[in-house]
Amino acid sequence: MSNTEKDKAQAGAEAAPRGLLAKHAILERNATLLLVASLIVVAIGGIVEIAPLFYFQNTIEKVVGMRPYTPLELAGRNIYVREGCYVCHSQMIRPFRDEVERYGHYSLAAESMYDHPFQWGSKRTGPDLARVGQRYSNDWQVEHLKDPRALVPESVMPSYAFLAEARLDTALTADHLRTNVTLGVPYSDEAVENALADLVAQATPDADTSGLEARYPNVTFGDFDGNPREITEMDALVAYLQMLGTLVDFEAYEPEQNYR
Ligand code: HEC
Repeated sequence: MSNTEKDKAQAGAEAAPRGLLAKHAILERNATLLLVASLIVVAIGGIVEIAPLFYFQNTIEKVVGMRPYTPLELAGRNIYVREGCYVCHSQMIRPFRDEVERYGHYSLAAESMYDHPFQWGSKRTGPDLARVGQRYSNDWQVEHLKDPRALVPESVMPSYAFLAEARLDTALTADHLRTNVTLGVPYSDEAVENALADLVAQATPDADTSGLEARYPNVTFGDFDGNPREITEMDALVAYLQMLGTLVDFEAYEPEQNYR
């Protein structure tokens, strides 16, 4: 190729675009400018999505039956987080037919309104647990946690037998409720004052549970781990598992029509 032919070919390849394209070419050739412009576009999209949320009366539909966790359930939830159960289990039923048929009604936002932090999870090595409450007996839960393969031979779930030996540490029970209050969970002063008493009442057979039941409707109580002599981490975890997804009565539930 002669030199003049080369020049011509180059000139052809770089023929200047015209009109709007020419302006866009400025953006495309300047990485910093392109980045700034992209950020502006994304920010506009973000504002359009987020700003209206501040003007809704409520972004979480109010649902009958939801109540804060009892002190014992809250302690069990702590153990659930500590042991990393969320690494293998989600707590969020998506509104797809296969999920609803397997796990029950899809999860409502209100059902995790008192969760700090929420346990939606992102991995299902085991099944979703959002509605596992009352699906099995306490005995089944305890046996399964102690030795999953005794009940489900092909299970890859680890054994948590040590929870039955570990006495539940209740030193921070009331503080735990207080911390939740600072995050907006509506525990009354009375609930905080009675935190430890409520925890003990829920896990002790034949205890006086009138205060507990008044403060926490639909609470289940008794001995959860099969060992009535002491309150163990197993009691707390099973109490938590047994209430998951049981608070909202879906026979009576109707979505709010004017929500949008
Ligand atoms: C390594 C992943 C893994 C971890 C971690 C794990 N699980 Fe599981 N889990 C499974 C698998 C797999 C199954 C299904 C087989 C079975 O029932 O054992 C299961 C089943 C269950 C079930 C029965 C659910 C149903 O609907 O049948 C419960 C309840 C449960 N796990 C609770 C827990 C709790 C509580 C923890 C934390 C203390 C935990 N799991 C930690 C994998 C895991």
